[in-house]
Amino acid sequence: MERTLAILKPDCVGAKKSGKVLDRIEAAGFRVVGLRMVRLNAQTAGTFYEVHKERPFYQDLVEFMSGDRCIAVALEKDNAVADFRKLIGATDPAEAADGTIRKEFATSKQNNIVHGSDSVENAKIEISFFFSSRDLVETA
Ligand code: CMP
Repeated sequence: MERTLAILKPDCVGAKKSGKVLDRIEAAGFRVVGLRMVRLNAQTAGTFYEVHKERPFYQDLVEFMSGDRCIAVALEKDNAVADFRKLIGATDPAEAADGTIRKEFATSKQNNIVHGSDSVENAKIEISFFFSSRDLVETA
């Protein structure tokens, strides 16, 4: 079993789409092993996305991610990282494949509804950013 981190972003939570998006995630076979509502501040959002700090969109991204609540979700499934990225689709909803979550719900490259870890190694780092091991349920 592999784990990945999803974040339902402020555009998702603020627009009351969290239930619909979680429904899509569970229907695709992912098991929720941790779930937490968080309000990031500029510092925590900036640290989470530190890898992008030289990118031109970084400041706007930090502002967006700290602008409202997020829901961090630790997910488990065989091949979770790759399967989750396939389920959510491309970063830019205009380029996301039909049937993906971003195609259906996202409005822009920045306001793209949901984050998904991009590698197994980063998934471990990102899950531990939001959850201690005691917060995660053993399911197997
Ligand atoms: P996410 O998958 O969470 O990873 C980094 C985030 O940065 C991405 O989703 C978007 O929200 C944002 N992002 C990536 N590329 C761009 C871009 N070109 N313009 C604006 N925001 C971007």
